Amino acid sequence: MSTHIEAKPGEIAESVLLPGDPMRAKWIAETFLENAKCYNNVRGMLGYTGTFQGKRISVQGTGMGIPSALIYCHELINDYGVKNLIRVGSAGSYQKDIQLRDIVIAMAASSTSGINNSRFINSDYSPTADFDLFLKAARYAKENDIPIKAGNILSSDQFYEDGPEDYKKWADYGVLCVEMEAAGLYTIAAKFNVRALAILTISDSLVTGESTSSEDRESSFSKMIEIALNTVV
Ligand code: ADE
Repeated sequence: MSTHIEAKPGEIAESVLLPGDPMRAKWIAETFLENAKCYNNVRGMLGYTGTFQGKRISVQGTGMGIPSALIYCHELINDYGVKNLIRVGSAGSYQKDIQLRDIVIAMAASSTSGINNSRFINSDYSPTADFDLFLKAARYAKENDIPIKAGNILSSDQFYEDGPEDYKKWADYGVLCVEMEAAGLYTIAAKFNVRALAILTISDSLVTGESTSSEDRESSFSKMIEIALNTVV
């Protein structure tokens, strides 16, 4: 048992999928894993372990934002020996050619979060995906005709920006989309020498103002989970 996870030693697999929403963790476990068992309900932040194609895999909710996600990632890595962490989440598009339901794999994650400013004072750290996980995910998508986009994303500390044009500075520098956790995940994975990747589905667009309904999201979300699971089997 760790501070925020009540699993017993050995109850969490080496590879963990990380949705922000704990109910999404339940849905992933019930939809994609066999014999899924819930190992965590502390603060309602559900976690499950089951099997996919015979391999043990866990899925753990992280909550929203880097501070919450880092609590779960820290404990998964340091208290439960997790080696592969794959964020599966939603993101808002910053580019007109990135549309609703597109899947984006984050090669790197820029950020408005203070976590690395206070570590690397007057310098910039570049939180980066694990190359092997990235290659496996991209290869699986290509071989199975699942279109993906890949590149730099933004992990923001604020869901609600000050103005509707704020995204343009990032868009001008090639940032594909915005979410709220990947930069923290990539940084903590580097610190503890484990592997991490963030795979995202576009749920809304800062360019057009459109957004998807939750039912609408399900099929593209399923493709993203398929890529994530096949990256760790
Ligand atoms: N996740 C999904 N859409 C988002 C947005 N517009 N900003 C931050 N995180 C998001």
